[in-house]
Amino acid sequence: MLALNKDAATYFYYQLRAPQGGTGLKYFQDRQLSEETMKKFGLGFANVKSNDLTRYLKSKGYSDTEIRDAGLATYHEKYGMSDKFWNRVMFPIQDINHRVIGFGGRVIGEGEPKYLNSPETEVFDKSRNLYGLNFARTSRKDHLILCEGYMDVIAMHQAGFTEAVASLGTAFTSGQASLLRRYTENVILAYDSDGAGIKAALRAIGILRDAGLTGKILHLEPYKDPDEFMKNLGREAFEERLASAEDSFSFELRMLERDYDMKVPESKMKFRRAVVEKLYQVADQFEDAKPFIEMACDKYHFGYEEMCKSVAAFANKQEMNAGLVRRREPETVQKQEKRDEPLLKNQKILLTWLVDEPGVYGKLKKYISPDDFTEGIYQKAAEKLFESLEGGHAPSPSAIMAALQADENAAEDEQKEIASLFCTKISDHLRQVMGIREADMEGETSEFDTKAEKEKALHDIIVSIKRASLQKYMEKGGSDKNAFSHILEAKKALQELQKTHISLD
Ligand code: UTP
Ligand code: MN
Repeated sequence: MLALNKDAATYFYYQLRAPQGGTGLKYFQDRQLSEETMKKFGLGFANVKSNDLTRYLKSKGYSDTEIRDAGLATYHEKYGMSDKFWNRVMFPIQDINHRVIGFGGRVIGEGEPKYLNSPETEVFDKSRNLYGLNFARTSRKDHLILCEGYMDVIAMHQAGFTEAVASLGTAFTSGQASLLRRYTENVILAYDSDGAGIKAALRAIGILRDAGLTGKILHLEPYKDPDEFMKNLGREAFEERLASAEDSFSFELRMLERDYDMKVPESKMKFRRAVVEKLYQVADQFEDAKPFIEMACDKYHFGYEEMCKSVAAFANKQEMNAGLVRRREPETVQKQEKRDEPLLKNQKILLTWLVDEPGVYGKLKKYISPDDFTEGIYQKAAEKLFESLEGGHAPSPSAIMAALQADENAAEDEQKEIASLFCTKISDHLRQVMGIREADMEGETSEFDTKAEKEKALHDIIVSIKRASLQKYMEKGGSDKNAFSHILEAKKALQELQKTHISLD
């Protein structure tokens, strides 16, 4: 797969220099890329004629299947193989060891989609690689710059900022944050200055903070992105902006503030509450929130003492909730673990999953209903949960808890069970099911980043729950008048699941 990608990159590279690559070369030249830059990044061109690459790769001995698996061509029953990329300028994507693992292809001029990217393959994991990191890792700066686009990275490297990297046509992930952490503690975000860029930056700040990295925000105004900035103001101005990059906490506060009208007392109090929560999150990372509290109080004229108290009270509340889980762990969880067959575990995971990612509900509601949950208390929790999801509400664990508490039949330990259920992190559960130990992940954070892994886990969980449900109703047989229709329904669902791939898109 790596050899194939490398051959494809070489092919694109030579096409850019051939007569038929003229439009591609002109495109890059118009964007002020030097010959040296094009060479450094191995930029290339995919021909207008649509099957050149496939033909070339086959002449080198690769099979149709290999070419398809690399995501470089698709197969139609009627038309045979056709290249994925054509009439595009090509950006080979390299891993930290300079091996080509995939491609981004940009349309020349205007057109949709602007960029086409290789799909994830055996060698291309989008959540654990970064564009430009193969060069940036040796840049010897005390920071790395994270930007949004391939072109941004290239423009920055050309201007001497070889510490720039970008994610790969997808949002920044925690896997990428831990990759960055191998090389630096300081990440400067150079995202687009528009609304989408701000939103992406806020998201990235959270991920960086969770990974223990310090984030700063680079301001590019009045320009849209680093590439435009560099063209207009040049490297010295960029250097100045780097030096005056905004601390991520201050940026978060400013962005939070926009949602509130500070002239209205009620609104300002709501803002204060949001600040308290933000401070708690930061304090949770750093064990000391004082500098952050000071900054927030100075800026918005909140009383320092009161603010400390509010944050402490908020922290108390949070920790009490978490304490519920922690306290019961030593006694019950272990005992429970024994009788907790994998089945119950899967039911738990599914419930947690739905709380964490309500969007998944739409994908599985045709296969699973609350009746499929075998343990009484899980069934009740599922009922409440499914009800709110069906109504399009975000599921609130506390509302579900309240409903269960109102139910006199639910014993106290059952309620605790459910409480703990909704406090557990989905990633922990998933890691358990998939038998992955943290130690196996070489210092990576243990998030499930590849979509394929998650989809498989979800599929397996649903099948397992459905099988158990079928079993349950078969055992009940005549004693339950609805058993028969449940059995039929479960069999049908299982058959369908066998040939269905559940996509998380
Ligand atoms: P941008 O639209 O900001 O692209 O998307 P850019 O890199 O600045 O490109 P130019 O300057 O317009 O040529 C940022 C990144 O988002 C991904 C690509 O990785 C791109 O570099 N993207 C964008 C896609 O994967 N597909 C798209 O259709 C658009
Ligand atoms: Mn751009």
